[in-house]
Formats: sequence, C-alpha cells, structure tokens
Amino acid sequence: MLLEGRRLVITGVLNDDSIAYSVARLAQQEGAEIVLTSFGRILSITRRVARRLPSPPDVLELDVSDPAHHEALATELAGRWGHVDGVLHAIGFAPAAALGGNFLATEWSDVATAVQVSAYSLKSLAVSLAPLMAPGSSVVGLDFDAAVAWPGYDWMGVAKAALESCARYLARDLGPQGIRVNLVAAGPIRTTAAKSIPGFNLFEDVWDGRAPLGWDVRNAEPVAKACVALLSDLFPATTGEIIHVDGGFHAMGA
Ligand SMILES: NC(=O)c1ccc[n+]([C@@H]2O[C@H](COP(=O)([O-])OP(=O)(O)OC[C@H]3O[C@@H](n4cnc5c(N)ncnc54)[C@H](O)[C@@H]3O)[C@@H](O)[C@H]2O)c1
Repeated sequence: MLLEGRRLVITGVLNDDSIAYSVARLAQQEGAEIVLTSFGRILSITRRVARRLPSPPDVLELDVSDPAHHEALATELAGRWGHVDGVLHAIGFAPAAALGGNFLATEWSDVATAVQVSAYSLKSLAVSLAPLMAPGSSVVGLDFDAAVAWPGYDWMGVAKAALESCARYLARDLGPQGIRVNLVAAGPIRTTAAKSIPGFNLFEDVWDGRAPLGWDVRNAEPVAKACVALLSDLFPATTGEIIHVDGGFHAMGA
C-alpha cells in the first residue's frame, strides 16, 4: 500500500463532496493513519462525515486564520504521534464581495480575508508542522489554475496565484529539511466551495468539451489519487510543482 505507516493531517473535509473527503478515504485505503481538521460550527459536521470513512478518524480544531490553533494542533500531534509524514491543505474561502464580477469594487478587507485563508494559510500550516516532519515528508495543496483570469473567480483567482507562489517559496525554504511542497491544480468539482462561486456552472459547461480526457465534475477521485501519490514516496525529487488533474484542459488552446 502506498501510504502504509504514514501519518497524515487532512484539512478541508466539510462533507462527502469535499475533495479532502476523497483524499481521506483513499489515504486510509492505502494504509495511512489520518486525523482531520475542521473549525467553528463546521466541526460537528466534519465529525459526522468522518464516521463514514473506512476507519473514523479524530477531528481536531483548526481555523487557519488563528495562530493559536496552529500552535495547539502541532502540540497535539507531537504528543499523539511524535511526527507527521504529510499534510493536505484543502482550504479556500473568499467573501461574496470578492467573487462574481465585483472585481473592481472589492475592498481590501475582503481581499485580505481571501488571501489569508486561501494562500497564507499554506505557509502557516507548513511552518507549524515542519518541526514534526522528517525528510521525505510532503505538503500538498489544492489549486485552481491561476495562469489566466476566469469568469466570476475574481479575487479567489488572485488568492490562488498567491498560493502557487507561496508553494514555490515553501519548497525553497523547506527543501533543505527534505520536505516537499506541491500543488494539485484540479478541474472543477461540484463541492460547497465551488457552488459558492457565482457562474461556476460556466466552468462545468466548457470543461468536459475541451478536456481531451473528458471531465466529471462529480468525481473527485482522480484529484484524490494525485494527492495520495504526492503524499507517498512516489515523487521523492519533486517539489515546487503544480500537477494538473483536469482531464488535460489546461494544455488545450480551445
Ligand atoms: N471544487 C473545485 O472545483 C476546486 C477546483 C480546484 C481547487 N479547489 C480547491 O480545493 C480545496 C478544497 O475545496 P473543495 O472544493 O473541496 O470545497 P469544500 O467546500 O468541500 O472545502 C473547503 C474547505 O475549506 C475550509 N475552510 C474555509 N475557511 C477555513 C478556515 N478559516 N479554517 C479552516 N478551514 C477553512 C472549509 O471548512 C471546507 O472544509 C480549496 O482550496 C479549493 O479552492 C477546488
């Protein structure tokens, strides 16, 4: 099994549509021991969903915008496991005013929230857990290709561009410790976060037609497989990379 004996922290399970839920399920099937994280009022929902996984994991509290939560999570994991082999960052949020065609009028406070929760949090999470990570450990985040401007995605697109850059700088600074940092750029998956983006259905409509391999917005499994591969030791010399799991959409001109 790909993840036999590996201990993983998986953020971002909101329900069983969440990309992180598919990663959690597959990681357990591949032999990993996992904990989930969640926050605020969502904690109880995540705990309910966790019971549907093959081996129900504990759910620890982590609001990525609260430095005290990062510290408490690292302390808890140091006591529980002593080390961590990998972490999945599957977190994105932008206030409604930062999405849906309001780009030119969005206030900094809304942009700041989007960037802090969706991009800076990769740094916060990686840095708080790095002391527990041995050489060969892996940090994986979820991206939506930020090389172009998308309808409605607006400041979330800017936050994803920041996430991409952040992953490269983390790869630079954590590489000497043997920690890999990579992103999976997923095609559109019909999750709660995706449905909160006005006009998300426009992506859905064009994707399947343009992706040479086709694309199913209800199936997060291909994305989860790539995350699991990056969390395993199958990519020992890959870091600062963005792997597209989008049916090939990104490589087509039209
Ligand atoms: N669904 C897509 O089409 C798609 C495509 C590419 C990338 N992504 C990315 O995948 C990741 C997971 O999103 P998803 O689509 O599975 O949706 P989702 O709604 O299931 O997950 C988003 C998660 O972010 C968490 N979150 C939000 N604010 C947080 C905070 N302050 N602290 C901790 N957690 C917080 C939520 O609790 C939720 O679990 C996101 O980074 C998203 O941008 C999604």
